Amino acid sequence: MAELHLGQVLEYRGDALVEGPEVVAHRRRGGVLVEGGLIAAVGEADDLREDHPQAEITDHGDHLLSPGFVDAHVHYPQTAIVASWGKRLIDWLNTYTFPEEISFADPAHAEEIATRYLDLALMNGTTSMCSYCTIHPVSVEAFFAAAKARGMRAAAGKTCMDRNAPEALRDTPQSAYDDSRVLLQKWHGVDRLSYVITPRFSPTSSADQLAALGALWAEHPDCLMQTHLSEQVDEIAWVRELYPTARDYLDTYETYDLLGENALYGHAIHLEPREADRIKEVGAALIHCPTSNTFIGSGLFDWPTRLAEGQRIGLATDTGGGSSFSMLRTMAAAYEIGQLTHQPLHPAQLWWLATQGSAKSMRMSDKIGALAPGMEADFIAVDLASTPAISQRADRANDVWEAIFPTIMMGDDRAIAGTWVAGKRLH
Ligand code: GUN
Ligand code: ZN
Repeated sequence: MAELHLGQVLEYRGDALVEGPEVVAHRRRGGVLVEGGLIAAVGEADDLREDHPQAEITDHGDHLLSPGFVDAHVHYPQTAIVASWGKRLIDWLNTYTFPEEISFADPAHAEEIATRYLDLALMNGTTSMCSYCTIHPVSVEAFFAAAKARGMRAAAGKTCMDRNAPEALRDTPQSAYDDSRVLLQKWHGVDRLSYVITPRFSPTSSADQLAALGALWAEHPDCLMQTHLSEQVDEIAWVRELYPTARDYLDTYETYDLLGENALYGHAIHLEPREADRIKEVGAALIHCPTSNTFIGSGLFDWPTRLAEGQRIGLATDTGGGSSFSMLRTMAAAYEIGQLTHQPLHPAQLWWLATQGSAKSMRMSDKIGALAPGMEADFIAVDLASTPAISQRADRANDVWEAIFPTIMMGDDRAIAGTWVAGKRLH
């Protein structure tokens, strides 16, 4: 039977980063009609009630109905080491990340953390994500099984590393290719799951391994490919030492066929003009991870330049380098980095980025990231007065975005009144 959800509703009529905040439309009293896990209609509450008298009605009052958040870059295995103090990227990896990732050889641990992570994501209104796993195939199995059980649209891949990592976290060019291929064939396209080819980053892959994964991607070009790019200055200097003949960091991927329209490059803070030009030219996506960039001390994403170039950009927590599971907190951090680079992003652009922008970066915007007929019914109800501090500020709002902005800046999981995945309430 059809279900009609009533509340304030956000709709997208274009690309908010390219065309501006006006493309995000708001209905004060709207509705979303859900049937068979899909969105059947979006419109004015009264019209939908009249047209669908049979539908079961859930009235969310003043809550805002929005597409579920899409986190375009996260490391689910780092769930339990989020907020680890005092290190910059390479030391942070060696001190906190790698020891924790070693534990994912144990399927029970992988299952426990995958479950914990997905529960935290849903609690925070995140309905889809693109996650790194660890080098262990069981870490991928555990994640996909948990996402499948929840009916989620989720993307993930085995993180490949064959050097500059502890022995217990190293594969080889051949095993990275073979294991990734087996996992891809088993999981890609099953229910709502997608396999993502995942070399961690150039410092932890030999040229042979990058080439092997480039070959795998060429055999499966419809798959996404995710990796890290130009996150921290020390890292870039290290890449230069490890790949002395490369023109720049991107070239280490480009040379081995790891540059293409279905690529997602996490961070991309310190880009050379050539790198930015090539990424724009091929239409790959940059994934902005603002809480991670400040937490690990990586630097400021160059918002003015990237917007002027018209890059495809997704938004992400990068948990546990990122310091939060919340895409609200992540939007706030993106706003703050925008301020520091003299590019204040409009609340409508931030919200669009956390939903449709990330969905576009994952090439899934025909399925998720918007409330529109035919889209999958992954949505959230957001309480725009979830704490006294937010409520007293929202009370003074003169327009909808002034009412939403306090939740962007100060909101957390308490603002997520409910999360629905394929029409089913999961939180
Ligand atoms: N670069 C390579 N691996 C990682 C990781 O796990 N987190 C972050 N933030 N950067 C990385
Ligand atoms: Zn990352």
